[in-house]
Amino acid sequence: MEFPIINLEKLNGEERPTILAKIKDACENWGFFEVLNHGIEPEFLDKVEKLTKEHYKKCMEERFKEHIASKGLNDVVTEVKDVDWESTFFLRHLPVSNIADLPELSDDYKSVMKQFASKLETLAELLLDLLCENLNLPKSYLKNAFHGSNGPTFGTKVSNYPPCPNPDLIKGLRAHTDAGGIILLFQDDKVSGLQLLKDGEWVDVPPVRHSMVVNIGDQLEVITNGKYKSVLHRVIAQPEGEGRMSLASFYNPGSDAVIFPAPSLVAEEKNEIYPKFVFEDYMKLYAGLKFEAKEPRFEAMKGNNVKLDPIATV
Ligand SMILES: [Fe+2]
Repeated sequence: MEFPIINLEKLNGEERPTILAKIKDACENWGFFEVLNHGIEPEFLDKVEKLTKEHYKKCMEERFKEHIASKGLNDVVTEVKDVDWESTFFLRHLPVSNIADLPELSDDYKSVMKQFASKLETLAELLLDLLCENLNLPKSYLKNAFHGSNGPTFGTKVSNYPPCPNPDLIKGLRAHTDAGGIILLFQDDKVSGLQLLKDGEWVDVPPVRHSMVVNIGDQLEVITNGKYKSVLHRVIAQPEGEGRMSLASFYNPGSDAVIFPAPSLVAEEKNEIYPKFVFEDYMKLYAGLKFEAKEPRFEAMKGNNVKLDPIATV
């Protein structure tokens, strides 16, 4: 089976049922897909890529090299299990932006990233609604489920994976599932490295120019009662070349949103298997267990008795 690459160009025409069917299949069988003609202009994405790479060269590269040297990671001989070969910073967009607090970013880069966030927020909400359509949930059900009292949490992790002398011994990013809702990844169009686990094998997510990679986080697995599953993925750094850029944007529930399986999906399955909890409690647990299997996290949340919050309940 080919990794699903889905063209959204004719979403609002007669091809809508076909496109929705492809998205449904990808959500059920891959937990990942890639979209083209998603509404964000190619020229704009080129600008984001150029500014991100310039920022890395100017502000991050030297620091990364010093960090690696100080930890003696250039010439390891056994597998390193507690470090990722990545250089990152985090931009929070919602509920409150932190962009003004990042003095190293040029004004131009800040302004472009603010626009990027707004465009991605729109795309994330469109995709959530397409998922609702496929799941026979009312329009905006997922957006509302993430809302809590202050709206969703939304942010972008800006990463670079510089060339790594020992990619077999140090992963660019160790295998994990994403904790949150829906994730949109704008990745390098030339340097591959992202892989997902499918049927016990690591499969490459192909770099496609101007595409957006979409994946399902743990919270969507809970809300869909396991109809859609978050999938393990990792990044393998390349031994040579320019390095890989990736911007992963996480559209997540608000911290006080109460997450639980959609009742109509539980009724369909006839057995409730996923817990109900407050999103920030899940995140506290995830912080220490990101690189562990997700099932014990869900299990631990079952012991977490949620007090009903009238604002956050959908
Ligand atoms: Fe991830």
